[in-house]
Amino acid sequence: MELVERFGSPLKFTYLPKISSQIVKARELFEASRLKHQYRGSYNYCYCTKSSHFRFVLDEVLKNKVDLETSSAFDLDIIRSLEKSGKFNKSQFIVCNGYKTEAYAQKMAAMVQDGFENLVCVLDNPDEFDLYANYIKGPAKLGIRIATEEEPNFLVYTSRLGMSYKRVLELYQEKIKNHPDFQLKMLHFFVNSGIKDTTYYWSELARLVNVYCDVKEVCPELDTLDIGGGMPIYTSLGVEYDYAYMIDQIVYYIKSICESRGVPEPNIITEFGSFTVGESGGVLYSIIGKKEQNDKEKWYMIDSSFITTLPDTWGIGQKFILLALNQWDKEFQRINLGGLTCDGQDFYNSDTNTNQVFMPKTADGEKLFMGFFHTGAYQESLGGYGGIQHCLIPAPKHLLIDRDLNGELTFEVFAQEQSPEEMLKILGY
Ligand SMILES: Cc1ncc(COP(=O)(O)O)c(C=O)c1O
Repeated sequence: MELVERFGSPLKFTYLPKISSQIVKARELFEASRLKHQYRGSYNYCYCTKSSHFRFVLDEVLKNKVDLETSSAFDLDIIRSLEKSGKFNKSQFIVCNGYKTEAYAQKMAAMVQDGFENLVCVLDNPDEFDLYANYIKGPAKLGIRIATEEEPNFLVYTSRLGMSYKRVLELYQEKIKNHPDFQLKMLHFFVNSGIKDTTYYWSELARLVNVYCDVKEVCPELDTLDIGGGMPIYTSLGVEYDYAYMIDQIVYYIKSICESRGVPEPNIITEFGSFTVGESGGVLYSIIGKKEQNDKEKWYMIDSSFITTLPDTWGIGQKFILLALNQWDKEFQRINLGGLTCDGQDFYNSDTNTNQVFMPKTADGEKLFMGFFHTGAYQESLGGYGGIQHCLIPAPKHLLIDRDLNGELTFEVFAQEQSPEEMLKILGY
């Protein structure tokens, strides 16, 4: 409430200390499991920039000396800029994922040439090898992405990302093994369901660790397994994740499979995106109107749009933690929350547990505010930031919240609410 009273609504905010505390949490849990299982490989926390590319996010992430994962050519321009400003150094890991275009391959090779010694180009398909090899002069590190099998209820059987087990071995034997410039250092996979305590996840993990062992048997320089992102975050107050158990099981599985195969356990890399930034973000709205379309369906209208500010709620039915900010002493009623655009799908009316949304019943004229929490990942990458959006609903003001050395909260307005002039300029007026 203090934030809305001071900065107005709608308001996006990012609470920066949460980013660092998530990184510390994951590192501590991996460290504890490594000690417990006498795991000899190292653990590296890599942040995948695609979940939020903002400078303030990367600044916070890099305070913790983490490595970075990229998805496309422009990501590398971000890393160049971070290196120039002294926040990233040339010996840190850069895991280059994603489909390799000519521009992406060229930029990776130029960075290797310029001394980014731990840039690993992760081949998504065999053709990328030739593309990259065209530009590389001198030693360079490679990874290969293994395609995962999708969950049985998914629309395709095998992920389009990465290559099948058979092709991984062929590619290594035919092109990499005897090449003077390349070393295959890493295998990578990303299980699309995310990290989950399900039979599907554990059996897919076991299969992929066995692929690592198969390749390691013929490729001695291979020493790293990148298990991707997908660590879940809290999108509801009614669910508890046992992070310690999940991480412990991952370390245990990798260790025991490698041991049974007589292969040294690999260094582990994770690329947690949502886990790093998701819980640092929130959006606050006020209710600016009410509608009642029939006896059952009551609507509260928010002062912005779900489609534009929280596109995942609209695109994939993503749920977030939702709370009223005031009027908690009132009776609560079932409500549909409507956005300002004319799109029939611009609404939110179901949370993870109850499949319903409840909000305080207010009398006419009483102010009501509400917040969506843990919205810090992907929403700007999907919805755009400050561009042209549905029905010209403006991008909200964005506030950065931090703590100073004395632990006091500090506030910085990163972006004001979008103005009509900015939009008209983009539109050519
Ligand atoms: C290759 C790769 N790594 C990491 C991530 C991050 O996933 P998450 O945000 O679920 O941690 C993604 C997400 O799409 C990805 O494609």
